[in-house]
Amino acid sequence: MRSIEVTLGDVTLRSPLIAASGTVGSVWEFAEVADLSAFGAAVAKSVSPVPWDGQPPPRMAPTRVGMLNAIGIQNPGIDEWLLGHSPRITALDVAVWGSTVATDPDGFAEVAAGLTAGGVSAIEINLSCPNLDGHLIATDPVLSGEVVKAVASVTDLPVSAKLAPDAERIVDVAGACIESGASWLVIANTVRGAAIDIDRRQPVLSGRVGGYSGPAVKPIAIRCIADVVAELGAVPIVGCGGITRGTDVIEYLMAGARAVQMGTALLADPRSGQRVLTEAARWCDQNDVDTFEEITNVVFW
Ligand SMILES: Cc1cc2nc3c(=O)[nH]c(=O)nc-3n(C[C@H](O)[C@H](O)[C@H](O)COP(=O)(O)O)c2cc1C
Repeated sequence: MRSIEVTLGDVTLRSPLIAASGTVGSVWEFAEVADLSAFGAAVAKSVSPVPWDGQPPPRMAPTRVGMLNAIGIQNPGIDEWLLGHSPRITALDVAVWGSTVATDPDGFAEVAAGLTAGGVSAIEINLSCPNLDGHLIATDPVLSGEVVKAVASVTDLPVSAKLAPDAERIVDVAGACIESGASWLVIANTVRGAAIDIDRRQPVLSGRVGGYSGPAVKPIAIRCIADVVAELGAVPIVGCGGITRGTDVIEYLMAGARAVQMGTALLADPRSGQRVLTEAARWCDQNDVDTFEEITNVVFW
């Protein structure tokens, strides 16, 4: 390959591979067990305005394919995060993106302002959180747009919106986020799922329902990208869900993504990023493809 760089909005990434939020801690912990050179960026665990305790255990469960998690976005809150984590991310040899989560637009903006001061290089908005009425923000185009607007008003960094595959019309949420100032969309977060412990006759997860991730969600995320590209055209997209090998990366790029995120696979093997990138580059070499951008958005949905 001539180059493995990709561009995303105004940002150039040295690699199309990004470590997904919630699967690499606040990135510096991940750097202790994995080589970050394969990644164009790494997204820290979502942070909220005040500390969140998360769900009691059990909050993670393996499934035959992939896993369920209902961590409840446990995190120390933005003030504590700035003290404990942000000093350790600025020295890393990778672009670290912050992830903001809250129950209302002001909360998202407060965290985004803190993350910006803390030295991250982009803000990802985790819309997969219930609002004060208990509805997933990512299923509501109007509220999602308000969140993006509030975040964009407090930072000069690129702002991205991470969407949920559970939205009935993800394209409406995507459109609202782009109109409100999102530089790119991350498609998508986990799919809501549940499992039963048949011996206890109870849900496996204490939170009953959790986020399903891993290889089986890839076709769902690709369908979401297809819907968005078919209606909105070539908006900047980061694909996410179920990537375990190089050809998965190629598939996401062809579908319309400019870069991809990898999560569950890194939990299973923190070193798998390098392998996946090498496999993707090998596919390009074998198919006379010089840059990843050459095969981006080549499918007519
Ligand atoms: C244990 C776990 C924790 C996660 N925590 C977050 C989080 O804090 N914020 C977020 O935006 N996504 C979170 N995610 C979702 C991942 O970033 C990713 O979108 C999802 O797992 C789909 O990708 P994958 O199939 O490669 O894992 C989490 C996923 C897992 C498995």
